[in-house]
Amino acid sequence: MSQAKLRIGLIGAGGIARSVHLPAWKNINNAEVVAVADINETAARGVAETFGIPEVYTDYRKLAALGLDAVDICTPNKLHTPAVLASLEAGSHVLCEKPLAVTTAEVRRMGELADRKGRILMTGQHMRFLSHSQAVKAWIGSGALGEVYHARVRAMRRAWIPTSPGFLDPDLSGGGPCMDIGVHALDNCLWAMGFPKPVRVTGTSRRNFGNSHEIPGAWGEWDRALMQVEDFAAGFVHFDNGATLQLESAWLGHQEEMEDFSWQLFGRKAGVQWPSLKWSSVHAGQFVQGTITAPRGGAKGHPEEIAAFAAAIRDGKPSPVPWTESIHVIAILEAIYESSRTGREIILN
Ligand SMILES: NC(=O)c1ccc[n+]([C@@H]2O[C@H](COP(=O)([O-])OP(=O)(O)OC[C@H]3O[C@@H](n4cnc5c(N)ncnc54)[C@H](O)[C@@H]3O)[C@@H](O)[C@H]2O)c1
Repeated sequence: MSQAKLRIGLIGAGGIARSVHLPAWKNINNAEVVAVADINETAARGVAETFGIPEVYTDYRKLAALGLDAVDICTPNKLHTPAVLASLEAGSHVLCEKPLAVTTAEVRRMGELADRKGRILMTGQHMRFLSHSQAVKAWIGSGALGEVYHARVRAMRRAWIPTSPGFLDPDLSGGGPCMDIGVHALDNCLWAMGFPKPVRVTGTSRRNFGNSHEIPGAWGEWDRALMQVEDFAAGFVHFDNGATLQLESAWLGHQEEMEDFSWQLFGRKAGVQWPSLKWSSVHAGQFVQGTITAPRGGAKGHPEEIAAFAAAIRDGKPSPVPWTESIHVIAILEAIYESSRTGREIILN
């Protein structure tokens, strides 16, 4: 394999690109971000200057057409699909922020193109790379839980509503907390469960506080008129192995914690919680419990995610977060919205 540096393009020079992706790419020895694109030229030029990126575009299609080794996509959710398709079409590997897309049809289209082109398509589910996620995944892999029959997943915030239009305008985001943070907690839990196949979903999605001033936003003011996505969603999922899952997700709501980002698995041999890593069971008729040990000061998530993507390209390995897993996550989220809209249970194919 050639020792030349991987040439990377970045599309979408906003918050997550500036705070996390570009600093992480700086730490990858064998890669260099050589081009950036953003419809906001000031944003693109700003990151180009800060991170020493030579080429700047305002049209993502021009960057995609360069056919660089890889493209990292950090645009609002609904703009992922065209940028991913254009980049894959030009022969680049692609890392795309979560949610990979807001419909399963789009995920399938991107995934099938990646497969046809023999390119890696990786979803930016950085939480899988956190130390405590890796520790609980390994513990579950040892068979400690036995058959898992139920999961509870929460991505519940009290007042952390994003202020950027990219999250509040449904034409940009395709959904509220369900797509923004529900996607993280759900992906993490399904990954820990080994991705059982979801078959039936019911759900609700509603806006309780997003258009009013009842709850002050902890990240500042937001455009109440533009806010046309849900601020609360919940779903109930049945899997083909008989297991079930309950998901709750919110940006705004009355609860003590500013954030409850967690999941809990109930198995026939034991139960476990993330991120506390507490487990509970019974041994010889006695209640037993403990805490799984995760390495101290360990993985932060995003840097390891980006390193895993770069390593997979260099070593010719499969996608560290493949679209064939993300499609189950998106199918559940999409079905929660559809169930809420139609008042019916949704059967997944
Ligand atoms: N993994 C995480 O923890 C995490 C955290 C925050 C955001 N995200 C995801 O990252 C993505 C971006 O979020 P953000 O917080 O950086 O949003 P942001 O609004 O701060 O930035 C988005 C950027 O994309 C640009 N953009 C919009 N349309 C474009 C187009 N057609 N071509 C090129 N650029 C375009 C905007 O001008 C803006 O600079 C979203 O999908 C979000 O879900 C992930």
